[in-house]
Amino acid sequence: MIDDIEIREATLDDIPEITSIFRDTVRAVNSRDYNEKQIEVWASGADDIDKWEERIKRFYFIVAHVGDTIVGFSYLTKGYYLDGLFVHKDFQRRTIASKLLRIIESQVSINGFEVIKSDVSITALPFFDSHFYEVEKKQKKSHKGMVFENYIVYKEL
Ligand SMILES: CC(C)(COP(=O)(O)OP(=O)(O)OC[C@H]1O[C@@H](n2cnc3c(N)ncnc32)[C@H](O)[C@@H]1OP(=O)(O)O)[C@@H](O)C(=O)NCCC(=O)NCCS
Repeated sequence: MIDDIEIREATLDDIPEITSIFRDTVRAVNSRDYNEKQIEVWASGADDIDKWEERIKRFYFIVAHVGDTIVGFSYLTKGYYLDGLFVHKDFQRRTIASKLLRIIESQVSINGFEVIKSDVSITALPFFDSHFYEVEKKQKKSHKGMVFENYIVYKEL
């Protein structure tokens, strides 16, 4: 556990760090549950800088940092839909995602919604389970020509 984790809204200047975390975490952590081809297709999402810019400009997008280092990020689309939650590969299991999720859930309530939803990876399911999310269904989702198995989860706030 780390005590001095701070959370703030992301800015466009954070894009290089955010995309490195995304790429490295997919390769190092999600590779436990997905095959090599799936991982490379997924990790290549880091290179779509226009999309990251749009996410930061349009959505509620927060980063966790320790000192000057970004160690995780998360963002909401549609006001209630958790579209991304990633923690730096070297900072796993130190409560960073739990802190990000608490703030994301508060924002969903502030936005006037009573339920938060997400599509989560096989890798992340135990984390969401430990935060009392229910599985709505297991699904196969197509992304850039590859099929990914994941779960739709939700929690009443
Ligand atoms: C899922 C993820 C965001 C969790 O981040 P984290 O900062 O390590 O999570 P926390 O430290 O807040 O975890 C809190 C609790 O969740 C549960 N948990 C988290 N990861 C777990 C795992 N891999 N297996 C079992 N339980 C887990 C545990 O109960 C944990 O408490 P503990 O460490 O005291 O046992 C992180 O592993 C990650 O970046 N995964 C890859 C990206 C990803 O799949 N994101 C999901 C969106 S698709």
